[in-house]
Amino acid sequence: MGYAGLLMTLDEAHVTTIAVEPKRHRAKIGTRLMLVLMREAVERGATAITLEVRITNLGAQDMYRRFGFVPAGVRKNYYQEVNEDALVMWAHEVDQPEYAALLDSIERTLPGETVIDDGKRW
Ligand SMILES: CC(C)(COP(=O)(O)OP(=O)(O)OC[C@H]1O[C@@H](n2cnc3c(N)ncnc32)[C@H](O)[C@@H]1OP(=O)(O)O)[C@@H](O)C(=O)NCCC(=O)NCCS
Repeated sequence: MGYAGLLMTLDEAHVTTIAVEPKRHRAKIGTRLMLVLMREAVERGATAITLEVRITNLGAQDMYRRFGFVPAGVRKNYYQEVNEDALVMWAHEVDQPEYAALLDSIERTLPGETVIDDGKRW
């Protein structure tokens, strides 16, 4: 249904990829993936998390804003195949209790339960 990837460099995490099957968009799967990814990043020692997003991808940017990401700059022609700039976004102080509370508040808006298979940690 969807996937997401994270790259850790010391205390910084980078969301490398996130996508949801088109027919399942707007069913909070992206939010659920982000929730798990953000918690995993913090658990692995991240104090800040960054990502790039296409400048025209306002829907994804909206989702990231809800997770505390703010714009920090533009990478020109980052997506060379479509000749499009990337907006660089950062979420800071993700190791603080306020960020954990933000994630908890997002989780409360999700339907059902988020089940994590601990047997398959990467
Ligand atoms: C971005 C993406 C992963 C979001 O996944 P999703 O499961 O549809 O997202 P959610 O249902 O959790 O949406 C969470 C919020 O993000 C925002 N959002 C997501 N998609 C949106 C869209 N197409 N238009 C406007 N807002 C959107 C909304 O605020 C939404 O909350 P709402 O539905 O309560 O209004 C999905 O659209 C996708 O796979 N897109 C193609 C790949 C991509 O762009 N990846 C990001 C690259 S940086």
